[in-house]
Amino acid sequence: MPASTPPVGPAFTGWLPGVDSLCYGGDYNPEQWPEEVWEEDARLMREAGVNLVSIGIFSWALLEPREGEFDFTFLDRVIELLHANGIRVDLGTPTAAPPAWFYATYPEARVVTRDGVPLGPGSRGMVSPSSPEYRRASVRIATELAKRYGRHPALALWHVHNEYGAPVADDYSVHARRAWREWLQGRYGTLDALNAAWGTAFWGQVYGDWEHVQVPAASASAVNPAQRLDFARFTDSALLACFTAERDAIREHSDVPVTTNFMATECLSTDLFRWAREVDIVANDHYLTAADPRGEVGLALAADLTRSVAGGKPWLLLEHSTSAVNWQPRNVAKRPGEMARNSLSHLGRGADSIMFFQWRASRSGAEKFHSAMLPHAGTGSRVWREVVELGQHLGKLGELRGTRVRADVALLWDYESFWAQDLDWRPSEAVSHRERVNAFYDRLWRDGHTVDLARPEQDLSGYQLVVAPASYLLTADGAANLTRYVEGGGTLLVSYFSGIVDEHDAVHPGGFLAPLRDALGVTVEEFLPLRAGESLTVRYDGGRGRAGAELTGTVWADDLTLAGAQVVGTYADGPKPGGAAVTRHRHGTGTGWYVSTNFDVETLSALMADVYADAGLPSSGVPEDLEVIRRHGDDAEYVIAINHGEDAKLPLDGPATDLLTGDETSGGGMVVPAGAVRVLRRHG
Ligand code: GAL
Repeated sequence: MPASTPPVGPAFTGWLPGVDSLCYGGDYNPEQWPEEVWEEDARLMREAGVNLVSIGIFSWALLEPREGEFDFTFLDRVIELLHANGIRVDLGTPTAAPPAWFYATYPEARVVTRDGVPLGPGSRGMVSPSSPEYRRASVRIATELAKRYGRHPALALWHVHNEYGAPVADDYSVHARRAWREWLQGRYGTLDALNAAWGTAFWGQVYGDWEHVQVPAASASAVNPAQRLDFARFTDSALLACFTAERDAIREHSDVPVTTNFMATECLSTDLFRWAREVDIVANDHYLTAADPRGEVGLALAADLTRSVAGGKPWLLLEHSTSAVNWQPRNVAKRPGEMARNSLSHLGRGADSIMFFQWRASRSGAEKFHSAMLPHAGTGSRVWREVVELGQHLGKLGELRGTRVRADVALLWDYESFWAQDLDWRPSEAVSHRERVNAFYDRLWRDGHTVDLARPEQDLSGYQLVVAPASYLLTADGAANLTRYVEGGGTLLVSYFSGIVDEHDAVHPGGFLAPLRDALGVTVEEFLPLRAGESLTVRYDGGRGRAGAELTGTVWADDLTLAGAQVVGTYADGPKPGGAAVTRHRHGTGTGWYVSTNFDVETLSALMADVYADAGLPSSGVPEDLEVIRRHGDDAEYVIAINHGEDAKLPLDGPATDLLTGDETSGGGMVVPAGAVRVLRRHG
């Protein structure tokens, strides 16, 4: 591992004070209800097995009705009520929704969009993260809360802000412009260095005065991509500085762990590998994409990413939904059992907390059609019955807390690369980093492999297979690390449009893929993207002397220059008939694969079977719709099985106990009924 690579995940190794089991609960917004409802809430929370609720997240206007004047009456009462009922508190700082007085007093603190539109109040969301007034006000309210509740026995966790980076991250305001110039001065020191990094000789953009450097707002044509990439880094840093300022203010008065809820996979403007080092415990929110009938795969990716940024440590699911959300084009209700399947998938992938947005459905406001633990239909509803049942199940799974997930496969996930790749004027609009990540992840999911997400620079030596679906920006360090990984016996698979530019979005010396030439035995002479709707055929034999299979590719082809690699797939047609399409290369004691076209998830199956063979990864033997994950404790292994399809047989060697029913199985496998979940403790 390069010496400069920082460790992955938080330094904190503890758990939530006063919670001796898995967490179960949700966002609780009692300010939307008359006080007599609160008693019923507490009673029903106990009935459902709720032991943790997140409060105060949107309460700033109530807690500080006028600037500098605080009124904690409401919060005092709520916290006492929860405490009296044995329910622990995850206390929000309300800084994601500044009060109306803030916007009125500091109109320049509003976020300005790339097109120059200032975003007004009347909703929620961040104001300019670079606004000194916002920083002062947010630290002040966080401090007041920490002073008042920092040592309260009900307090288990601090929940700073809400989903940094959403709904907006980029800010082009006057405050941003000032902070951006300061950030650039810190990064580059001199304008000469900035001009070199941004390649400003192109289109005559050379800067001679820091005051002339602008935020990359909308312009007549494509704005300098290196400038925009740096702006993405600056935005991430500005948001992170808001978090750390509040966190540090809290720590002055409280020893309780501090977190903020991420939106792994959905909010790409925050580099969660960086953020995870700053929180005490990693926490995530996840909502299914209702349009996707196989939303469980996206859920699994988000959960695996969350665990990965946490460095494998247990993490908290702070929000998901009991049924439909309200903000997608078509908000599909979850089917019976789906909420439990979703919850167990998070749990299986390392979550020690299963929580929801929100406890009681709101009568008013923008989210009244969002599902809740306690829906508008009340306790007579299917959702409520499933909520109570899930609470009972989680109550039986306390021994899983703190156990770990192990993955044999790493899939590279690098925010900087995504930021760069998603800018303007790339060789084909059809090339999407998320599409490739999703396709390879889906293949691995269907083949039953548990996957970590990893940065190219981090230690990869523990993985049998590393997949790079979209490593457009690859630093020299990252490429050297991947090359060492192969040399040392690893199997690496790289997909097209990878290894193209360095950290300044400048093409690598030596051309496309040059930094991975040793590992892959191939470079790219020219990109050959396809027209919309075109496809091509690859004659593929996997290099193992089999008859060639015909695989269909879309979107992309390369004109490759071989540098030692074996050709295992050849273009039968398309822009370069007869050219190499898929290559395999022995380097050191490992193998590097390169795939120069777009295979869909079904087509990837043939290729991945050979890649798994090189990596020594056995087939899981599990039917495709049966999701199986394992968590490992000191003395036991837990098998979490989630059946998304018809009745299916789970292979099991040796006896096991079903923790949800108490049943013993003697080995040889068990049938998991359609739609059901099982959590098994394996002995020995
Ligand atoms: C989350 C947010 C919650 C709620 C939820 C609805 O992103 O943190 O406050 O709005 O979405 O799905």
